[in-house]
Amino acid sequence: MALQKIEVKVVFLLGLALLSCGVEGTRRVLEGPDATVFDVTTHGAKPDGKTNNAMMFIRAWNEACQSAGPAKLVIPEGNFLAGEVFFKGPCKGPMTLEVLGTVLGKTDLSEYTTGVWIDFEKVDGLTVTGTGTFNGQGESAWPSKDPSQKSLLPISLKFQFVQNALVEKINLLNSKGFHMTVTSCNNFKLDSLTITAPGDSPNTDGIHISRSDLVNVTNSVIGTGDDCISIGEGNSDIGVSGITCGPGHGISIGSLGHPQDKDVKGITVKNCTLTGTTNGARIKTLSESNQLVASSIIYEDIIMNDVKNPIIIDQHYNSKSKTGSSKVKISDVHFKNIRGTSVSDVAVALDCSEANPCEGIELVDIDLAYSGARGSSLSAACSNAKATFTGKLSPVGCV
Ligand SMILES: *[C@@H]1O[C@H](CO)[C@@H](O)[C@H](O)[C@H]1NC(C)=O
Ligand SMILES: *[C@@H]1O[C@H](CO)[C@@H](O)[C@H](O)[C@H]1NC(C)=O
Repeated sequence: MALQKIEVKVVFLLGLALLSCGVEGTRRVLEGPDATVFDVTTHGAKPDGKTNNAMMFIRAWNEACQSAGPAKLVIPEGNFLAGEVFFKGPCKGPMTLEVLGTVLGKTDLSEYTTGVWIDFEKVDGLTVTGTGTFNGQGESAWPSKDPSQKSLLPISLKFQFVQNALVEKINLLNSKGFHMTVTSCNNFKLDSLTITAPGDSPNTDGIHISRSDLVNVTNSVIGTGDDCISIGEGNSDIGVSGITCGPGHGISIGSLGHPQDKDVKGITVKNCTLTGTTNGARIKTLSESNQLVASSIIYEDIIMNDVKNPIIIDQHYNSKSKTGSSKVKISDVHFKNIRGTSVSDVAVALDCSEANPCEGIELVDIDLAYSGARGSSLSAACSNAKATFTGKLSPVGCV
């Protein structure tokens, strides 16, 4: 460590020198010129693709977390195998994790005791960056997947009670369960991510957000076997923009209506392109759910390429296993400027709750064409929905 501290001091002085010359100053200031650097390889981690580096990562994090001031944990180039990892706060200063190499998830499922591979908790001030990859090696877990244990396949990256965070530029590949979850977080930005898994991989959602406030997901490319992005219960002020999605199940709100679920409000999904997905802009609630509200939702400037259900509100999600009306009240929802093609003939489906009809649903400038195999024409289907249709409309709205 002593050597590294000296190095860091040199970098700090260099940073100051550059600053005073006005050269490249901004970047250094943003990264924190005085961040103490902790390289996992100097804590025993081995990039040999065989050693389980989980303990070395945890020890390096703990040391960084307990050091005064900003700290940066670096995973350099190379293949680092790791089982379950906990990156826990609170820390003494803002933390950065820079990943340049590939982190490989251990394939032995018994390694994962909490259903998570890499778990960030209770950190205030976190940056995860670098051009590296988190490869969950999920292909080892998918075929043997027991349906009764589906929620137990580990999430690749979990963020819980993390605030003032930026996760950017990293790649996530073949998670076993969800690729990333953001839960009970506040002021959280996700930018320029690449998330990739085969279209037929089970429950490999890209990003699932719940119980969070002020989360933005921007400029990312996501293709998985489930929702590209799912916005669950208890969220407010969530912005999603510049997302390329597909394959996958689309960009969904829900499912909502599980016991303990809380209201959802202020969701904006803008400037996204969905290709070959089963759903486009979707809101889904369970039938026979508990009482809650989903409101102030905007899907705007979305391009659909060969999407199966481009615009869909489904309040009878899981209706095969449950009967009865959803108690989720959906209101103030706007679908604007949604263009492209649909492979099913019902391009707009507003299937709302008998007990709690949808209110304030607005569709403006919907311009979809049929691209399926049957040479059919498009239609819209509405039940229990108070909806207005204006602007260019293809299909024509419900009466
Ligand atoms: C973040 O999302 C909010 C809420 O939808 C939105 O108003 C804001 O413009 C977004 N910011 C960025 C940088 O995308
Ligand atoms: C829309 O999203 C694309 C990425 O799909 C991005 O390159 C472009 O800058 C975005 N446009 C606006 C106006 O945000």
